[in-house]
Amino acid sequence: MNKKINIGIIGFGVVGSQVGLILHRKKRIFSCYNGVDYQIKKICEINWDTSREWLPPEELRTHNYEDIIKDPDIDIVVELIGKFQPAYSIVKRSLESGKSVVTANKYLLSKKLIELITIANKHGAYLGFEASVAGAIPIIKGLKESFSANRITSIIGILNGTTNFILSSMTRKKQHFTQALTLAQQLGYAESDPTLDISGRDSAQKLAIISTYAFHCSISDDEFLIEGIDKIEQQDIEFASELGYRIKLLAIAKRVDNSISLRVHPALVPYGHMLADVEDVYNAVYLEGDLFGKSLLYGEGAGGRAAASAVLADIIEIGKKITSKAHFSEQFTIEQKIAIQPVDKIESRYYLRFTAVDRPGVLAKIAEILGRNKISIASVIQKGENPENAVPIVMLTHRAMEKNIRSAIKEIDRLFCIKNQTQVLRVEE
Ligand code: HSE
Repeated sequence: MNKKINIGIIGFGVVGSQVGLILHRKKRIFSCYNGVDYQIKKICEINWDTSREWLPPEELRTHNYEDIIKDPDIDIVVELIGKFQPAYSIVKRSLESGKSVVTANKYLLSKKLIELITIANKHGAYLGFEASVAGAIPIIKGLKESFSANRITSIIGILNGTTNFILSSMTRKKQHFTQALTLAQQLGYAESDPTLDISGRDSAQKLAIISTYAFHCSISDDEFLIEGIDKIEQQDIEFASELGYRIKLLAIAKRVDNSISLRVHPALVPYGHMLADVEDVYNAVYLEGDLFGKSLLYGEGAGGRAAASAVLADIIEIGKKITSKAHFSEQFTIEQKIAIQPVDKIESRYYLRFTAVDRPGVLAKIAEILGRNKISIASVIQKGENPENAVPIVMLTHRAMEKNIRSAIKEIDRLFCIKNQTQVLRVEE
């Protein structure tokens, strides 16, 4: 006879409602494949939305998460409320009482991953969090299992569906930022506070989680450079396209000497690069390792069903582990704290868009300051002619140091002929 696993779901929103619905519909299939009966014992939600595709029967519903975390019959607690508290105490207390936890909470994990894994190990419980990064893409499983024999040297990810959707819509449909954001929210891609998506913070939280696994060190999203997409204008998309690039919000982690260069920022990605064609809500993670070489994982990165796919995979996996005799702990070892490369030392090609008056000598002055700061120009575009007003002048540089770019732009932006703050974007070749 199949062994039974009781599940308590906390949070019946975009993701939780899909997890409940699919468990309800597919539990017979799951049990056939895995020899485990997965039963929903309770679902907790404060504001029940009765318009959901499936509403659990009254006896499964509660408003109080204590009914789940204190229930001795519940084996797996699924935390899908997000943010920090009460999620932190729900996850911690559940693990301390020996219950396994599945969560999609990147905010919490970007701060407390190692502490929570340690608690899980100590109490013979499991922590599943595949859904916290890149929706349905099995990046955590990839790093923990498939690529585990490798020394990972580079990760470049498009880890936020909302911003990728917005940038794609701005590129392909020439939509305004707000139009594209509203649609992303309606489709259930955006966070409840979309500034987390737009500002790059959501990508940074995800980068911190995968970097912790990839580099075996403790990394928090407070430790590195984060720039969002709010300063990207339609004209940047058009200039980039003319130069042969798409603009993407990238989450980057690369080993550089004895440190890791970690950052989240929009970047120009050349046509033909594997990440340039990742459109709409899709996410992708490009990895390099010493044994596998290069690999690209690609899939839907946001939305209820994509996240539910990852949550359910964790539930199924943990159910199998609990019902098997052996206990597998994470055995997650942390190396010494690794140095994060200072921002000044970033080396890249740069896209610069100046807003300058259209008079003789302006270009020469800009070029002189760049040259003095050891920045070499690769190409220049100036559109239109307007002696009365400012015009955009776009330059692509050769490889330069961030420190030199910052000091040159500071000086250029003080010139009388420069009318707006210069747009500076990095290029990821
Ligand atoms: N708001 C997130 C995104 C949802 O757009 O990617 C998935 O974490």
